[in-house]
Amino acid sequence: MTETITRVGVVGCGVMGASIAEICARAGLDVRVAVRSAGSQDAGLARVTKSLDRSVRKQHASEAQRDDILARIVFTTELADLADRELVIEAAVEHSDVKTEIFTNLDKVVQAPDAIFASNTSSIPITRLGCITTRPGRVLGIHFFNPATRMPLVELVETLVADQEAVTRAEHFLSTVLGKQVVRTRDRAGFVVNALLIPYVLSAIRMFESGFASATDIDRAMKLGCAHPMGPLELADLIGLDIILDVAEALHAEFREPHYCPPPLLVRMVDSGLLGYKTGRGFHDHTS
Ligand SMILES: NC(=O)c1ccc[n+]([C@@H]2O[C@H](COP(=O)([O-])OP(=O)(O)OC[C@H]3O[C@@H](n4cnc5c(N)ncnc54)[C@H](O)[C@@H]3O)[C@@H](O)[C@H]2O)c1
Repeated sequence: MTETITRVGVVGCGVMGASIAEICARAGLDVRVAVRSAGSQDAGLARVTKSLDRSVRKQHASEAQRDDILARIVFTTELADLADRELVIEAAVEHSDVKTEIFTNLDKVVQAPDAIFASNTSSIPITRLGCITTRPGRVLGIHFFNPATRMPLVELVETLVADQEAVTRAEHFLSTVLGKQVVRTRDRAGFVVNALLIPYVLSAIRMFESGFASATDIDRAMKLGCAHPMGPLELADLIGLDIILDVAEALHAEFREPHYCPPPLLVRMVDSGLLGYKTGRGFHDHTS
């Protein structure tokens, strides 16, 4: 019998952390979100509220349900407040040093020896995060897709030393409690989806960079010709160009294959703060 998880911690409340906190609270769980500062808390709460308000407008939830869901999410600036969590999902910025510090501290503060630690990382090896803790068998990758509230897939990443009870418990939680479709993968950069998706997006950026076609035409071509719901450059804007760059660099570092090498235009756009939806401009204008 798989023990049910009811107390969930989320670290970080950006695009993904907010969405993960929301689906856990929608599932009736007690959610605690650890953020860096009062400013991050305000931004995180605003993200969750905006998403829930959209559900109310679309009549997918009532105002009372929205308020109940929000009441189940408690913010804290102290990681130590995650001490009693049964599952902690880290969704902080994709920087190895930040995640290293978070996992080192989670290991110190989370009390239950059978608690599961998960990272939503798109590219940092789970093994590396696990090995800085005293419980590497309990550290998994739980890779949601953006937005986690709507995307059905979760990649469940197991390391060579993963405790099979933790993997089974996490899979049961994701499929039964959160209603996700789980694909299990090994701990290799990019897992399944990004290892296939990132070279495709980078090819579209190279095509645009070379002047071969406009951003709009590249996106239209893939939507109309391949029935993709979104073109590759629109998708890059949605994911965030900084994330695309981080993941491409991680894939390139792991496999040393040229198709993972980030094109110069992507690097310049990230340096310029043209990150896509989240900054209002990427390959397309999102200010309106
Ligand atoms: N954006 C996507 O499409 C997507 C999809 C799947 C997975 N991911 C992964 O999810 C993670 C988060 O990505 P995102 O898109 O939400 O990024 P984001 O930039 O929107 O949010 C990152 C958040 O981390 C916070 N943060 C930084 N240091 C922190 C710390 N020490 N403690 C707590 N919070 C801290 C920042 O304040 C920010 O709110 C990354 O690992 C990314 O690779 C992203």
